[in-house]
Amino acid sequence: MKGIVLAGGTGSRLWPITKGVSKQLLPVYDKPMIHYPLATLMAAGLREVLVITTPEDSESFCRLLGDGSAWGMSIEYAVQPRPEGLAQAFIIAEEFLAGDQAALILGDNLFYGPSLGRNLAGLTRQEGAHVFAYEVADPSEYGVVEFDESGIVLSVEEKPAAPRSSYAIPGLYFYDETVVDVAKAIAPSARGELEITAVNEYYLRAGSLTVTVLERGTAWLDTGTFRSLQDAGEFVRVMEDRTGTKVGCVEEVAWRNGWITSDELVALAEPLRKSGYGDYLIRLASSANALPPTQPGANP
Ligand code: DAU
Repeated sequence: MKGIVLAGGTGSRLWPITKGVSKQLLPVYDKPMIHYPLATLMAAGLREVLVITTPEDSESFCRLLGDGSAWGMSIEYAVQPRPEGLAQAFIIAEEFLAGDQAALILGDNLFYGPSLGRNLAGLTRQEGAHVFAYEVADPSEYGVVEFDESGIVLSVEEKPAAPRSSYAIPGLYFYDETVVDVAKAIAPSARGELEITAVNEYYLRAGSLTVTVLERGTAWLDTGTFRSLQDAGEFVRVMEDRTGTKVGCVEEVAWRNGWITSDELVALAEPLRKSGYGDYLIRLASSANALPPTQPGANP
């Protein structure tokens, strides 16, 4: 399975902040927003990732993330000329995927929770499609999934006016190798977008959509409004200050996955010392209590 981070869009719900800079490059406390979804894919063990951006912002993302080799992975880039829907990501990624399975994460979605990486790693061999459910106060803002007591999915709907459940579908999706064909088969919605919910509905009708409720204690934050952006930054700051560990630290995940050595981690840390970020990495590499590098599945 390969990973895709979708980081395009106009960011118009955050104007004027995002008139001059891509939303997914904005800071969420101590790192750029895109580091969080990238760390989530890495924690699932996905080493080959495509980052999809607007044409104007592509260069900034390349400058920020490079080709991934510093973190023992491969990062490629593609552009989405216009925001024509989340599902267009698979059509854009067709060559990159080259017949492989795909995990898609939205560049503005932040996940944090115990054993999250390990749980996601279990989804990287997919038959059909897998999505998550997360109970929210206002489901009509999201894709909504309805399921019965045994977890069988009954319906998926995009931003329904009268939601059939209180479970939103977060922006992290796992698909088998047919997803490119599915994305090509669906029709644009009334708002002219290839909806991810239409892809999920296609799998549902084929009897191959599964859903799990994100484990209790897992945080899912999106950063679509002034308030939720600020909340996400506060969440990260409080978690990091209180636990002494970083959230969404790509260098740490690469090291815990065994993709880079402790010496390489220290080398990455050096230019980051002025901000204190590098000191954290050095403490990790040298701490006797630090967990040794493990297999994919370490918490991002
Ligand atoms: O956050 C989860 C929700 O994301 C899901 O529950 C919904 O089913 C899904 O449609 C999506 O809803 P949003 O209203 O959040 O979608 P939005 O149009 O805001 O796009 C989400 C992110 O993807 C945003 O950062 C911009 C980016 N994007 C969006 C579109 C439509 C692209 O990069 N390209 C696009 O074509």
